[in-house]
Amino acid sequence: SGNAGMERLIPIVNLLQDSFTSLGTSIQIDLPQIAVVGSQSAGKSSVLENFVGKDFLPRGSGIVTRRPLILQLLYSKNAEYAEFLHAKGKKFVDFDQVRKEIEDETNRLTGTNKGISNIPINLRVYSPHVLNLTLVDLPGITKVPLAREVDPSGMRTIGVITKLDLMDEGTDARDILENRLLPLRRGYIGIVNRSQKDIDGRKDIKQALAAERQFFLAHPAYRHIAERLGTSYLQKSLNQQLTNHIRDTLPALRSKLQSQLLSLEKEVADYKHFGTDDPSKKTKVLLNSLQNLSGDFDKHILGSSSSEVS
Ligand code: GDP
Ligand code: NA
Ligand code: MG
Repeated sequence: SGNAGMERLIPIVNLLQDSFTSLGTSIQIDLPQIAVVGSQSAGKSSVLENFVGKDFLPRGSGIVTRRPLILQLLYSKNAEYAEFLHAKGKKFVDFDQVRKEIEDETNRLTGTNKGISNIPINLRVYSPHVLNLTLVDLPGITKVPLAREVDPSGMRTIGVITKLDLMDEGTDARDILENRLLPLRRGYIGIVNRSQKDIDGRKDIKQALAAERQFFLAHPAYRHIAERLGTSYLQKSLNQQLTNHIRDTLPALRSKLQSQLLSLEKEVADYKHFGTDDPSKKTKVLLNSLQNLSGDFDKHILGSSSSEVS
């Protein structure tokens, strides 16, 4: 499935994070934030929902997202629920209720007359199926140049073209998808989200992914690049970028652990005759597992999904 890479990443990132926490060290793996920008009704909220695999965002044809939503995905081994910062301690297990709370909380601040506010709603989703990751859903009034402000070099921007199913008969987006019209360093990925009719008919995300795949395979202008199109490929590409990010942070983690180990060993030598517990033991174990991990990482993780986003 499109989430295979993600499934492999989850245990690794969590092993690292747990280890560092248990060690009481300040080392953290900060995964990058993914901000979704694009004009109103472009399909931003739809893309985020696909990412989480659950229906929980207000969606529609108007300006539905009227406050920024800072969505923190948090891995949790045995539980799946949501919690809002403005209602701490209240666990939402029904994701229809999450949508309702987002709508109510939006209205609480902006009124029901479609006002827009820049004060964000903070939502945490705990799930066994996600990586610790922050997604930001922005109101649709923010037009494309925003992307240029947060990412001037364009290194971190992936172009996503939605609604390919809605193009006029006889037209297609081949030029842009082949990165010829408005070239981006990381290129474009075309996707087909659920239509409003699909959502009203309660088509689930799994069915939608299968239909999307069929759409690309059957389309004369997209068939030849079908492997590089679609929601699953988008997820894979994002996973690849996260994987690269984690791989790049491993050497720094290792050297920080190594110097921590050295100073602990020195301490142990100094106080040997006091017969205290060896505080360097934990660090040694961790360093060891980090070293194994780096090896595994190159062998299995990077090797298995080597198709870099260009
Ligand atoms: P946002 O305003 O950018 O967050 O857009 P939404 O995700 O709320 O989508 C707006 C509307 O467009 C909803 O009714 C979606 O069902 C619909 N929509 C989004 N993406 C697609 C798509 O790829 N194809 C079709 N047919 N409808 C889409
Ligand atoms: Na919308
Ligand atoms: Mg939206």
